[in-house]
Amino acid sequence: MKKNVGRKLGIYPTPVVVVGTYDKDGKPNLITLAWAGICCSEPPSVQISIRRERYSHKAIMERRAFSVNVPSVKYLAETDYAGMASGQNADKFKAANLTSVRGELADAPMVLEFPISMECRLTHCVEVGSHDLFVGEILACWIEEEVLQPSGRPDPQKVAPLVFIPGSEYFALGELLSSAYGPGKKLMRE
Ligand SMILES: Cc1cc2nc3c(=O)[nH]c(=O)nc-3n(C[C@H](O)[C@H](O)[C@H](O)COP(=O)(O)O)c2cc1C
Repeated sequence: MKKNVGRKLGIYPTPVVVVGTYDKDGKPNLITLAWAGICCSEPPSVQISIRRERYSHKAIMERRAFSVNVPSVKYLAETDYAGMASGQNADKFKAANLTSVRGELADAPMVLEFPISMECRLTHCVEVGSHDLFVGEILACWIEEEVLQPSGRPDPQKVAPLVFIPGSEYFALGELLSSAYGPGKKLMRE
């Protein structure tokens, strides 16, 4: 039996990313986001949703660029902090002891210490309600060599991303279950 619990956000889990921007004075800033994901394969694009009152919102509108950085679990405190303090009155890179690296293709700072960083160019902005949905085309994806596999893909256990249960808790990645496009084959009809 299922119970209707109302108009709740029922997607579990979400990723946790930290988005980098430059403000109008060129100060690098960070914002932690759970409303984020891949939204297109070609052109490779990500979507992030940000409340209009956030300091980062203005920066994205002004610079039309942002970076999306994937933190490892060891940066839990830094990630949580970037989701509480505001760039309006804090230097989050400095306070969290993180290193800002200027993007080569997008006008946005990346986080050196995080294993994956993407440079993005703003392509769409959609007003949804409380949040504006930004779509960014990925111009470059930087992956820490230590987490790269010979296949060119990152090793998920080495990346060790955070997993988020909306509104409540952070988890770590669970165990490997299977390769994709395999387990369902037994249910395919000839
Ligand atoms: C785990 C987590 C997820 C969050 N996800 C979002 C989100 O998806 N969108 C959003 O607008 N704010 C989100 N926030 C809140 C912002 O990160 C927070 O308000 C931040 O202080 C804004 O920084 P800024 O004012 O420097 O832009 C989240 C916070 C946390 C801790």
